[in-house]
Amino acid sequence: MNILFDHFPALYTERFALIEITTDYVTDIYNIFSNDNVTQFYDCDSFKSKNEALKLIELFQKRFKDGTGIRWGITLKNDTKIIGTIGFNSFQSDMVGRLGYDLNENYWNQGIISEAIRIITEYGFRTLNLHRIEAKVIPENIASSIVLEKNGYIKEGIMRDKGFWKNQHHTLILYSRNY
Ligand SMILES: CC(C)(COP(=O)(O)OP(=O)(O)OC[C@H]1O[C@@H](n2cnc3c(N)ncnc32)[C@H](O)[C@@H]1OP(=O)(O)O)[C@@H](O)C(=O)NCCC(=O)NCCS
Repeated sequence: MNILFDHFPALYTERFALIEITTDYVTDIYNIFSNDNVTQFYDCDSFKSKNEALKLIELFQKRFKDGTGIRWGITLKNDTKIIGTIGFNSFQSDMVGRLGYDLNENYWNQGIISEAIRIITEYGFRTLNLHRIEAKVIPENIASSIVLEKNGYIKEGIMRDKGFWKNQHHTLILYSRNY
């Protein structure tokens, strides 16, 4: 399923601005994804160069242009840097969105992603007319399970050895929330 936009839908709340991730933010994206604690559960290694951050931004931009996904940059009010990213990695058929998010480690455990998930979930249901939002989490990624559960996502099942990366099979928990 594709969702096409005529402009990037920036979202503003009391605490955040959720904005388009342009190449101007390459250093901020690099700072997030060059940290091993951020990428430890990911199917990619930590970035070693800003060129990798540029490629990721270009991927976000392509998905948005093609209508296959959307990723916002998280900025705190009164600050200009992107400290995290959140959005839909893909839109599946039957109005299903796949949620993904990450945060610069300097900002962990301040409730930022819990709040960002709340905003994006509401936007997904009310504005994009999604019917279901899914997220997949590695069982060891406790913080990621907590932020979903705090937002009403339900643990739907365990997908045993569903993923394979970094030379290992990985079990994934499937979370979902329906409209
Ligand atoms: C997962 C992640 C996005 C969470 O972002 P965050 O803004 O720090 O999350 P929040 O502060 O909103 O909530 C985190 C919760 O987990 C809890 N927590 C964190 N680490 C924990 C741990 N090891 N054990 C138990 N609880 C833990 C925090 O106390 C907090 O709960 P609380 O609000 O009830 O106190 C962030 O850790 C991150 O970027 N991780 C790396 C990327 C990633 O894993 N992305 C998700 C892939 S599925």
